[in-house]
Amino acid sequence: MTDNQEDAEDTTPSRRPTLPLRPPCERLSGHKSSVCSRSYFVVVMVFFHVYIINVIALLFYVHYSSGQQDASRTRDAPSGGHQRPESRRPPSKPEFVRDVSLARIEGIRVGHVQKVSLVSGKVHEMRTLSLKPLLFEIPGFLSDDECRVVMQLAQLKGLMESQLMVQVGQEELAKELNLSPEEIFNLLDINQDGQLQLQEILTHSRVRDGIWLTPENLREIYAGLKADKDNNGLLSLEEFRLLSNDAFQRFLLQRGVKRSQLVRNSRHTWLYQGKGAHQVLQDIKEKVIRLTRLPPTLVDLSEPLQVVRYEEGGHYHAHHDSGPVYPETACTHTRLAANTSTPFETSCRYITVLFYLNSVDGGGETAFPVADNRTYDEVSLIQNDVDLLDTRRNCDKSNLRVKPIKGTAVFWYNYLSDGRGWVGEQDEFALHGGCVVTRGTKWVANKWINIDPDYQRQALYQQLVSQLPEDDEDDEGLTLNKDMQHASIHQEL
Ligand code: OGA
Ligand code: CA
Ligand code: FE2
Repeated sequence: MTDNQEDAEDTTPSRRPTLPLRPPCERLSGHKSSVCSRSYFVVVMVFFHVYIINVIALLFYVHYSSGQQDASRTRDAPSGGHQRPESRRPPSKPEFVRDVSLARIEGIRVGHVQKVSLVSGKVHEMRTLSLKPLLFEIPGFLSDDECRVVMQLAQLKGLMESQLMVQVGQEELAKELNLSPEEIFNLLDINQDGQLQLQEILTHSRVRDGIWLTPENLREIYAGLKADKDNNGLLSLEEFRLLSNDAFQRFLLQRGVKRSQLVRNSRHTWLYQGKGAHQVLQDIKEKVIRLTRLPPTLVDLSEPLQVVRYEEGGHYHAHHDSGPVYPETACTHTRLAANTSTPFETSCRYITVLFYLNSVDGGGETAFPVADNRTYDEVSLIQNDVDLLDTRRNCDKSNLRVKPIKGTAVFWYNYLSDGRGWVGEQDEFALHGGCVVTRGTKWVANKWINIDPDYQRQALYQQLVSQLPEDDEDDEGLTLNKDMQHASIHQEL
């Protein structure tokens, strides 16, 4: 037993420390060779096992430590992007994978009526008014009470002039650019026929000074300045050269500009709709989300509600709520996030929802001069002294007019689809204006939904605002903290 035990003990690895004490094999004589080969085998096996265990331990170590690195990387990621390993995307150009497709309501055909559910237990009817632009009308979108509260809140806040009488800063810009009369003439001569037609001057004046001249006004100015020497209604380069740079402006200022001669004659204010806002304002926002079927975050991050009041005689000549988007155009709402410097900027209002807060006694329709026109031709908008953009004179010639009825909402898309579920090009047919109010007052509200046609810029903007410090702990997960951003982004509006 004891011998056996000993033998057994000898062969167990637990006896290893004694092994080196044994005499080396070489010194053993031949008859001991079986013992020597056995212990040799044991030594090899022990080393083999230790080696395998070491390799496994090493693998474990490598795996565990890289896992920890990954975890710490993930934790660092939202906090500013510093110390990012080289293998990750460079922070200057992150690529967002688009995981949303914007819903677009189908118009079917003009006059088509579809039912929409905006509040539980009630169904609204939505009528297609035109396909170009895609335009709908929803009677009774707002209750009488909601209309009243919105008007009262706006009055409480106070309304400001929508357009200042004379816009300053334009002259400085022209001087800064240091353009010669020839260069200015060339810029104005849109059809490049070497003459300045009335509409070429009119369009320019509206954009530059916000002053709405009629063809008669312009002839009057020509006569006052003796500009059109040959009296053919056109300005040649020679005639243009004789005029000083700000001759038109000085003439107008001398004569005085009335409010009715501005592009827009109304007063307005902005009402925030985020958390803490009046329940009616939050309810309206919720209904807009259900109406447009857009992701709530997009609506939450859009401009506040704009409330507008037109007095008798008020108007808003035809315009686009948002401009065309070229590669170098920035959107106002994503501009800071996009970190680009470009002189071109537009508000990127994908959708306009316009609410009528009262029924107007006379006039005040919303006109869409070229709705569902077969073609869009900018030049033909002002022809033979008929200016389709003029909502004081020519609303009756508009293709479509919507009568302001208390509680009715109209909404339209200012941009087409890009065909891949995102915002595409500007819809030129979305041109519209507010006809002159001939009797009483007119109250409307605008809810614009801002989306950057450049998905990457929109996504980056959303990511950045989602990282702003939160003011409330009950914000669920990834939901953006909307009110704070509204307050900081739109406070100067
Ligand atoms: C506007 C607008 C139309 C109207 O405020 O941008 O186009 O009917 N209003 O007041
Ligand atoms: Ca011309
Ligand atoms: Fe508008």
